[in-house]
Amino acid sequence: MKGLQEMEINTLISKDSKKTQIHYKILNENFYSSIRREITEKRLSYLSEASKKLPLPSLFGKFTSDSHYLATVDLFIKATEETRNRGTFFLKQIIPSLQSYGKLLDIGPGNGMLTKWVGRKFKDITLIDPVPQVLENILPSFFSKKTALKKINQSFLQTILPKNYFDLIILSHVIYHFPEEKWIDVVKKALVSLKPNGILAIVINSGLDREKLGDNFKGKTYPIEDLILKSSQLNKKIEIFSSRESFYAKDLTTMLHICGLHLHDLKGEAVQNDLEKYIKSNYLLGEDTYKMEMFQHFIIIKNDPIENY
Ligand SMILES: C[S@@+](CC[C@H](N)C(=O)[O-])C[C@H]1O[C@@H](n2cnc3c(N)ncnc32)[C@H](O)[C@@H]1O
Repeated sequence: MKGLQEMEINTLISKDSKKTQIHYKILNENFYSSIRREITEKRLSYLSEASKKLPLPSLFGKFTSDSHYLATVDLFIKATEETRNRGTFFLKQIIPSLQSYGKLLDIGPGNGMLTKWVGRKFKDITLIDPVPQVLENILPSFFSKKTALKKINQSFLQTILPKNYFDLIILSHVIYHFPEEKWIDVVKKALVSLKPNGILAIVINSGLDREKLGDNFKGKTYPIEDLILKSSQLNKKIEIFSSRESFYAKDLTTMLHICGLHLHDLKGEAVQNDLEKYIKSNYLLGEDTYKMEMFQHFIIIKNDPIENY
């Protein structure tokens, strides 16, 4: 998908005869404007140093171990304000609209940064991740002393969870790890565990340079429209917010690692030589400075029948 547009969503939804209600909003610069910029010269120099210590994979898009993957995730999230913006979105848009702050489920918490920001409000936090190291890295000290922290080392679809239990379920940059035909099952399973009035927040990157990178290196184009269409048939209130995000690097090695992780999400792969050429001809901003762009979409599903709105 080359970036979701309001018109596209309206067309998409009107294809479906079932009455539904979807609000769509582009988040512009003003939404994040009160926040200090993170990508400074100092940060870019730090990334250049850190990327030199990270082994270059023989095939970009593949990782040799969980620790190689996690170290690349760490570099990746420091090269963009997308993570910080994601946190801001949850704090400004999602948290204030919740009716209670009892129980949070974070599926695939990654480095736990988003969990840490959002989780401070909650009394009970459950984390699900198939990678043991991910769960080990997220410590009780990230949260309030009174917070109960539970960790489930499994894939989400294999996990048995209580019904009507969570106030908020986060599925942020995780859905790519499930086969596309299972995406709607993931959404339905999450909704069963959500309290009435609870919120399921799905975050997905797509479009622009990321989409083109995937297309160029035999990656997947993810069926986001299809997910929205199928979710709209579940008789729930849906809101979609999108913001344009960028990744920056001051050297080619950092950009190679960033693209390697995007390719991993997109199930594409590239040898170093081809990826270097592609980066130089598509992302070069100035002398040894690179930028790539994409959309970050937030699909917010409220667990209430549509009649209540
Ligand atoms: C890119 S990270 C997401 C980080 C975090 N949610 C955020 O938004 O910053 C993807 C996470 O999904 C986890 N993951 C992969 N397959 C999964 C599955 N089947 N069930 C749950 N989590 C999964 C990975 O181990 C990793 O922690």
